Amino acid sequence: MKLNLKIWRQKNNKTKGKIQDYILDGVEEDMSFLEMLDFLNNKLLNEGGEPVAFDHDCREGICGSCSLFINGVAHGPERGTTTCQLHMRKFKDGDTIFIEPFRSRAFPVIKDLIVDRSSFDRIQQAGAYVSVNTSGNTQDANAIPVSKEDADEAFNSATCIGCGACVASCKNSSAMLFTAAKISQYSLLPQGKVERKQRALNMVKQMDLEGFGACTNTGACEAQCPKEISIKNIARMNREYLMANIKK
Ligand code: FES
Repeated sequence: MKLNLKIWRQKNNKTKGKIQDYILDGVEEDMSFLEMLDFLNNKLLNEGGEPVAFDHDCREGICGSCSLFINGVAHGPERGTTTCQLHMRKFKDGDTIFIEPFRSRAFPVIKDLIVDRSSFDRIQQAGAYVSVNTSGNTQDANAIPVSKEDADEAFNSATCIGCGACVASCKNSSAMLFTAAKISQYSLLPQGKVERKQRALNMVKQMDLEGFGACTNTGACEAQCPKEISIKNIARMNREYLMANIKK
């Protein structure tokens, strides 16, 4: 198929970017979206042009690196799918495809389609861990009962890959779905309850320091999250934060 690609090009975060047009012929429907970009880059290199910079690592929907805004939707048109797992069969011959980076003040563009998401790392560092005393005998994990409901909820929250689609899709650039998923995966389990108050306070504080907006419950984050993380996590985070503040 032949595609009309409109791709955001930006040298670095000190310069202005713009949409550049590319006509790409010979795209096969079995190519993944990233393979299509590889194909474009090979063509650009052969013609002496500058390849398009884009982020990727696992290409298996696990690492969350492949953060692209495709035709105005984080990760493109297929629900519950990362850009790397999106295939060109979802598009038609002659289609025009806009490809942009995830946009947020807290995600500055590094180059072209690559953004700096280290703000997410700092939110995680603020509390997404458990402290375990490993001296002496450790308790047998089987001796700590966890309900099936809590285990399932914690697991679902833990499937967040930290790609930033929630931020990119939100009109407020809110990172509350990401932060809430990370808080939930610990607070639901006995091992995470020890530090739950401090975790909620520290992670929300860091989220605000990074310049992310607040949630106004439009639900775009849940709709565009490639792992379909539920917005219920945000309600849980708000309860955790409220309780931590009352107890403080
Ligand atoms: S490249 Fe890892 S999730 Fe897409």
